Formats: sequence, C-alpha cells, structure tokens
Amino acid sequence: MSDEGKKYTERGFLDYSDKVIELFKNPKNVGELEDADVTVQEGDPTCGDTIQLSLKLEDNAIKDVKFLSFGCAANIATGSVLTEMIKGKTIDEAKKITMQNVKDEVGGLPPVKMHCAVLATNALEEALKTALEKLEEKTKSEN
Ligand code: FES
Repeated sequence: MSDEGKKYTERGFLDYSDKVIELFKNPKNVGELEDADVTVQEGDPTCGDTIQLSLKLEDNAIKDVKFLSFGCAANIATGSVLTEMIKGKTIDEAKKITMQNVKDEVGGLPPVKMHCAVLATNALEEALKTALEKLEEKTKSEN
C-alpha cells in the first residue's frame, strides 16, 4: 500500500505550531484549585473532549486559575494559554478574550482543531457567567 497523499509529520498527522507542541508537553496552570470560587466543565459532543476551569476570585478579578484537560493536544495548549491570558485580569477584561485571541496565542491551529479553541473560550464564558452570578449574590446578601 502506498503512502502517497498521506501528510504527516513527526508530530502526527497534523501540522501543529511549535507553541502548541511546547504547551502540550509543558502546560501551565494545570490542576484544580481546592478553594475555587467557580468550577465549570465544558464538553464538545462531537469529539467527546472536555475542559475544566477553576477560578479564585478577588473582588472583580481573577486571582488564580487552573485547568484540567480531558482532550487533545490543542485542548491542552488552548487551555494553558487561556489561563495565562486571564490570570490577574478583571472579569470584564477576561470577557473580551475571543476564540481568535486564543488561537493566535498558540500560534494558530490546524482547521480541524479550531473547535478546541472554541471549547476553551466556551468554558471561559461559562466560568465568567457563573463568577458574575456569584458576585451578584454576594452583593445582594451584603445589602
Ligand atoms: S479534538 Fe476535542 S478538544 Fe481537541
């Protein structure tokens, strides 16, 4: 059987960026925050992968963040950059982060892996929504 037409690299069949490979091997902020104020898990039903984000809040800012990936190399890399992008940011600043920003931050993604960046930003959106609800509840209970 001929291998003609098969495009693969030492990284597998996909042409991942150097940054994706680097973060896949050494992701940042991996794990769970024991004292998290917000923990969310988002999944992609098409590939079956999930990502979990946990946030520690201080006032309106993200004091700390960790992620757990149950997915592919792109899931790990996008989760890693996402945590670095939002750490120390206010909720409003973090809300402005888009899928495109995440994709750019990992040096681009193969088209078939774009949904992995969508998954990471969906998790962020859900986490920030929950964070805002918690802050609202806290404000109500204090008044
Ligand atoms: S293939 Fe499912 S998140 Fe990447």
